[in-house]
Amino acid sequence: MPHVMKDFTSLKGNLEGFSDKQLDAHLSLYGGYVAKLNEIEEKLKTADRTKANYTFNEFSELKRRECTALNGTYLHQLYFENLSGKGGTPSDELSKAAVAAFGSWDAYVADLKGSAASTPGWVLTTRNRVDGAIHNYIMYEHHIGLPAHQDILLALDCWEHAFFIDYGVKKADYLTAFVKNVSWTEVNKRLAALPG
Ligand SMILES: [Fe+2]
Repeated sequence: MPHVMKDFTSLKGNLEGFSDKQLDAHLSLYGGYVAKLNEIEEKLKTADRTKANYTFNEFSELKRRECTALNGTYLHQLYFENLSGKGGTPSDELSKAAVAAFGSWDAYVADLKGSAASTPGWVLTTRNRVDGAIHNYIMYEHHIGLPAHQDILLALDCWEHAFFIDYGVKKADYLTAFVKNVSWTEVNKRLAALPG
């Protein structure tokens, strides 16, 4: 079944510190990942698996890029869903989990920003299924470094395409704007939906 781009155009004009030009460019890139994911999945149906090869082969190349398009699609979906501009406040459950893991809410946010400064890819706030705690993990590209055994609570896009139009090289200012616009309501919902 083809993957469908979700409509996030309502974010335009509602995120303080995010211009329409920046959001248009980012939404267009997101659409590109959805299209490529569909293209890859379609081509994989008929690509010849019997000639798979580490150096070069159509099937092998499709498999090597499949996760790039998959994560490019669904990490962006999570990112735009956890931005709203009027984000509510962290729930008791989320606040307590963040304090338990980082010592304070401000320390969690500082860790989120520090993690973002450490990667050109993604930061994911997750609940780890092994220790049950909240973590910030960094990823490179879209498919490198995705940690195992995690439920994603918040996705933060650190690719330059997410902020360069509005902030140039001032990534820290983008991170401040991102935190200001997070939909904690959405993050609370994701945490509440997890078992136990
Ligand atoms: Fe992005």
